[in-house]
Amino acid sequence: MRTQVAISGAGPAGLLLSHLLGEQGIDTIVIESRTQDYVLSRIRAGILEHSTVRLLDEHGLGQRLHREGHEHRGIYLQWPHERHHIDFRSLVDRSVWVYGQTEVTKDLVAARERAGQQFYYGVSDTALHDVESDAPYVTFTDASGTPTRIDAAVIAGCDGSFGPSRAAMPDAVRNTWERVYPYSWLGVLADVAPSTDELIYAWHQDGFAMHSMRSSTVSRLYLQVPNNTDIGAWSDDRIWDALAVRLGHGQDGWELRPGPITDKSVLPMRSYVQTPMRHGNLFLAGDAAHIVPPTGAKGLNLAVADVALLAPALTQLLQGKRTELAEHYSDTALRRVWRCTHFSWWMTTMLHTGADPFDAQLQLSQLKWVASSEAGAMGLAENYAGLPIGF
Ligand code: PHB
Repeated sequence: MRTQVAISGAGPAGLLLSHLLGEQGIDTIVIESRTQDYVLSRIRAGILEHSTVRLLDEHGLGQRLHREGHEHRGIYLQWPHERHHIDFRSLVDRSVWVYGQTEVTKDLVAARERAGQQFYYGVSDTALHDVESDAPYVTFTDASGTPTRIDAAVIAGCDGSFGPSRAAMPDAVRNTWERVYPYSWLGVLADVAPSTDELIYAWHQDGFAMHSMRSSTVSRLYLQVPNNTDIGAWSDDRIWDALAVRLGHGQDGWELRPGPITDKSVLPMRSYVQTPMRHGNLFLAGDAAHIVPPTGAKGLNLAVADVALLAPALTQLLQGKRTELAEHYSDTALRRVWRCTHFSWWMTTMLHTGADPFDAQLQLSQLKWVASSEAGAMGLAENYAGLPIGF
């Protein structure tokens, strides 16, 4: 088979890229190692930045998001006995939307199916070849066991941190940076109306806790737990008790409403950046190039920002035979990647507690400054609500 852009990965990055290129009349084929059911049901974060929402709107992908999502004007930051609202609208005139990544992926799949996109789900043995040449190609075994080859002008690696694209960057050109955090998140999904109108990020000596949501009837909550935590040790009652303590049940009359837990998982926390994001005719986007810890919900938004730069760069390269945007893609994308990497690290290390009492005092001092100084609050608001795509 032949196409202009072979896209490895049918998560939000790969699907959005096929959509934006499709609008320009560029032909793509998308391959994915998971099944479509798996991709459409995996649980990810649920906050869309201002510029992500605008981009989805501009490309006809925002209808259901505006119907079913919820606009939030800020977040709550708290520590024992105090809760503060950080109001993005009044600080930086921007908002965020609560709409699960799973829902964004469903909307993208629906749009691509309407456009007649060619997909291969459930493929195995994917390998990228001759990425430094003008004739790169991808080989894989399709879901029915048939060995398959796609020849392309360009390969887009949108296949996440475990996919083959990241590893297809030769060691001689590849640089990596990594931070593994000494804690994980225990995440739960619960069939209960959220006990808060906007997200709560809570510092607590027992560990960080967060109250997020998916809809008016489904809550998403997280607890900081040690790495390698056995999920079997966390009964539903133990989870709700820990959430009540850390989120301040009873404080100023606020109550945490418990309900049936429908999903429980432990998520490790890691920051990772691999550069460059382009080598020859291989371009990386999203988690294939960088991972952020979930605090601040930057992962999906960063993937969207990468693709918003990559689509015009590939369009210019394939239609105009001009190379400037493609040449600058890696450097341009990485400016924003490092900004979000710093912000995610900062939110994470400000809110997760450890054994060191000196660190705890520094964290509390920082939180109090952010909550009480307009300059401090504005820094958080600008980064959380999202910097412009080309930042
Ligand atoms: C989520 O809803 O899953 C979520 C929200 C905000 C975060 C992280 C996760 O910072």
